[in-house]
Amino acid sequence: MRVKGNKYRTIWYENNVVKIIDQTKLPHLFVVKELKSIKDAVKAIKTMEVRGAPLIGGTAAYGIVLAIQENKDLDFIKKSSEELVNSRPTAINLQWAIHRMNNKLSFVKSNELLEVALKEAKLICDEDVKFCENIGLNGLKIIEEIYNKNNKTVNILTHCNAGWLATIDWGTATSPIYHAHRKGIPVHVWVDETRPRNQGANLTSFELNEEGIPNTIITDNTGGILMQRGEVDMCIVGTDRTLSTGDVCNKIGTYLKALAAHDNNVPFYVALPSSTIDWETKDFNNIPIEERNPDELSHIQGMDDQNNIKRVLIYPEKSKSMNLAFDITPAKYVTAFITEMGVCEASTNGLKQIFKR
Ligand code: MRU
Repeated sequence: MRVKGNKYRTIWYENNVVKIIDQTKLPHLFVVKELKSIKDAVKAIKTMEVRGAPLIGGTAAYGIVLAIQENKDLDFIKKSSEELVNSRPTAINLQWAIHRMNNKLSFVKSNELLEVALKEAKLICDEDVKFCENIGLNGLKIIEEIYNKNNKTVNILTHCNAGWLATIDWGTATSPIYHAHRKGIPVHVWVDETRPRNQGANLTSFELNEEGIPNTIITDNTGGILMQRGEVDMCIVGTDRTLSTGDVCNKIGTYLKALAAHDNNVPFYVALPSSTIDWETKDFNNIPIEERNPDELSHIQGMDDQNNIKRVLIYPEKSKSMNLAFDITPAKYVTAFITEMGVCEASTNGLKQIFKR
């Protein structure tokens, strides 16, 4: 997608280094950062310089490439794989990408490891772009239907950032929106701020602005009244882990939005590439929910009048806070899944029908 008119992906490999857009600086600064070692890759995922399920999968794949560049010893690659898998616990894409890379690398001769790893990491990223593009084309039909029925701007609410910055390109939840906009369908996006890290305000609004798509940032608690007033035609969100039961684990606050949508008959869609499906876990209570540092709540980052990025304390110093990063939306609140293979019911049958597993 575009930043100041220039086309970018969120991650690429050039001159033996992996390049990423440092998302901790957006929207104020656009900084391309180089990852040169496995340590850099793990840190980028942990500190959320890169984030979003598909992008952390892609970064993990390139992390293996960086590990091989450092040391081709199998024990080192194994240890690096473990560090990457443990860098964030909830998004299934991390495990998925590492598993896929290691499968590809088993039985490969030492002098061919780098070439094979590079090819696979690039393939994982290229596939994600294609998947997200197809999610867009499949979701476009839903937006088009709403537009044809009402013949007015389609108001879409989204939570967190499931945009191109969370993937390699296009995004999942935003891809249908980008496709609709390019087709000339008038769309407007309600962007949940997404406390505490404000991925909606900082990232989703930023990328929609860059593509010229009208959007309005709202606090995380505003969606309910907008739905009661009939000002939301549909919700589309992403997912970090989708169970084969149809239950969805996504950014904290998604569940409450789904409840409000259910109460107001607003369709609630979850957009996902197949790489975020966890076919093994059946009970959502078994999903590891990441708990991040409480200082992400007690401090906030922004730009001051002198254009300096500052971080300030906003809570009483002595107060305790808690920072769960994800929640679960049970399948019964999900209208449908929008995937690269088509739109399906949020259920084992629905998923099996399109993924034939
Ligand atoms: O903590 P984050 O910013 O990595 O969380 C991201 C989300 O919750 C996204 O909705 C999800 O990863 C889907 S990304 C296409």
